Amino acid sequence: MTPTGGQDSRRIGGWGFGQDASGLDPREPTSPTLPSPCAMVLFGATGDLTRRKLIPAIYSLYTQGLLPRDFEIVAVARRKRTVGEYRSEAFESVQAYAPAVPASTAAWQRFAEHIHYVCSSLESPSDLDGLKATLEQVERSKGTQGNRLFYLATPPDAFARVVEILGATGLSTQASDGIPWRRVVIEKPFGRDLASARELNRRLRATLTEEQIYRIDHYLGKETVQNIMVMRFANRLFELLWNHLYVDNVQITVAETLGMEGRGGYFDASGIVRDIIQNHALQVLSLVAMEPPVTLSADAVRDEKVKVLRAIRTPREQDIVWAQYGAGVMNGAQVPAYKEEPGVASTSRTETYCAIRFFVDNWRWAGVPFYVRAGKRLARRLTEVSLELRPVPDVLYSRLTCAVMPPNRISIRIQPDEGVDILMGAKEPGVGMCVQPVRMRFSYAEEFGRAIPDAYERLILNALLGDASLFARDDEVGTAWEILTPVLAAWERSTQPPATYMPGSWGPVEADLLLSADGRRWWNTDT
Ligand code: BG6
Repeated sequence: MTPTGGQDSRRIGGWGFGQDASGLDPREPTSPTLPSPCAMVLFGATGDLTRRKLIPAIYSLYTQGLLPRDFEIVAVARRKRTVGEYRSEAFESVQAYAPAVPASTAAWQRFAEHIHYVCSSLESPSDLDGLKATLEQVERSKGTQGNRLFYLATPPDAFARVVEILGATGLSTQASDGIPWRRVVIEKPFGRDLASARELNRRLRATLTEEQIYRIDHYLGKETVQNIMVMRFANRLFELLWNHLYVDNVQITVAETLGMEGRGGYFDASGIVRDIIQNHALQVLSLVAMEPPVTLSADAVRDEKVKVLRAIRTPREQDIVWAQYGAGVMNGAQVPAYKEEPGVASTSRTETYCAIRFFVDNWRWAGVPFYVRAGKRLARRLTEVSLELRPVPDVLYSRLTCAVMPPNRISIRIQPDEGVDILMGAKEPGVGMCVQPVRMRFSYAEEFGRAIPDAYERLILNALLGDASLFARDDEVGTAWEILTPVLAAWERSTQPPATYMPGSWGPVEADLLLSADGRRWWNTDT
């Protein structure tokens, strides 16, 4: 495949080369290399994830010249389609879900020629005959050199079976020297508790090495999540404060306005703890709390993250608030209660909101609560990390009658309005001495003036490059399940009903009480 920019060199120019007076030596390449030639096999090719995220992300990489010249996509799904029909559907996805990506018909035509379609029910090894024939033909005629990235965007109950039949046919087998390479990307959820995650891992590892497995947590592909490490370890400023001596508490919010959007059946069997907290929120927490890694290599970073997870104390019943949204009005429209959503059982106790008080029992964080909350149908779409610093000594300015001095806060806005805010006190102009809270604000959009790429672009590119640092390792996933499995099991055993909250609110009053009992409150950037 010829990238539109006419790139055929192995190193991409343009990324981070002397963009400003930052002092970077323009001769120092800071850009990634192009992936080697390969075929990308998309299982679940007619599903929602492929349409909304994967095809738009792959096409966006193509338009930026970030894919190798010899790159073919083999789409695999149960549904009968001609390749022409599949290509048209893929074009519609790009138009619908990547409106910012230039989808001129001519550019699309060139891209679409590299898409193949195979219909398969993926039940047994012989169901892969069509895929095998297509891959062999592509490898003979298109120069993909036998390198293969298998992307499992299937329902989770198919993950293990698909990997097993890939193994049985030899399609995913990789020689010990890794040439040609064979990699498998597994979507979330990775299991639904510790036992099922271990079992899934065991079945994957029967035919794959850990290095061949790329477990997706798409939060790790977000620029702002990657920036947590940059902020901490590329600056002197923050790291001095980043410990129990200065930080009073840490808050992580993953708030969505969306309800079930047709996913009621899936969600009712999982709930927000499995859907968001076990993966996205704990990944963010471990990046916030980790020690500096020795290098930026995948394993060095993941070693440090896993140490944080291991230090997390199992939350007790009184550390957790489980809740479900009722019926109400959001943005002027009536929305149904969770239990009335299509696909949801009318007696469901599944939580659509959860707030948990975690403690990371290590030297750096001893005694500092990490309050994590995640929920559907909340007031605003907002993912944010806030570190509240300890108050200054109660002398000097805090004694003035006109001083309003909330504790300093460092807020990392993961989305939307990506950026960082610092809340601090400043002297109000005038002859008197009044202290008022002010904000210092860094905004990605204002500072860099370009759209933030979708997380899936970065993740697909990294998987093609063989860089696993933004994917979850088996012990990370397992340790996150170790923390939450007893908590989920206790909730599932109990008969206590979940608390309720109004759609469009910030969650149940019980979550406010969780913090007020500690003399604290929840913060959002705008509070
Ligand atoms: C997914 C969850 O992993 O993340 C969804 O399954 C959720 O329920 C989504 O809506 C949120 O992702 P983002 O990138 O919009 O924050």
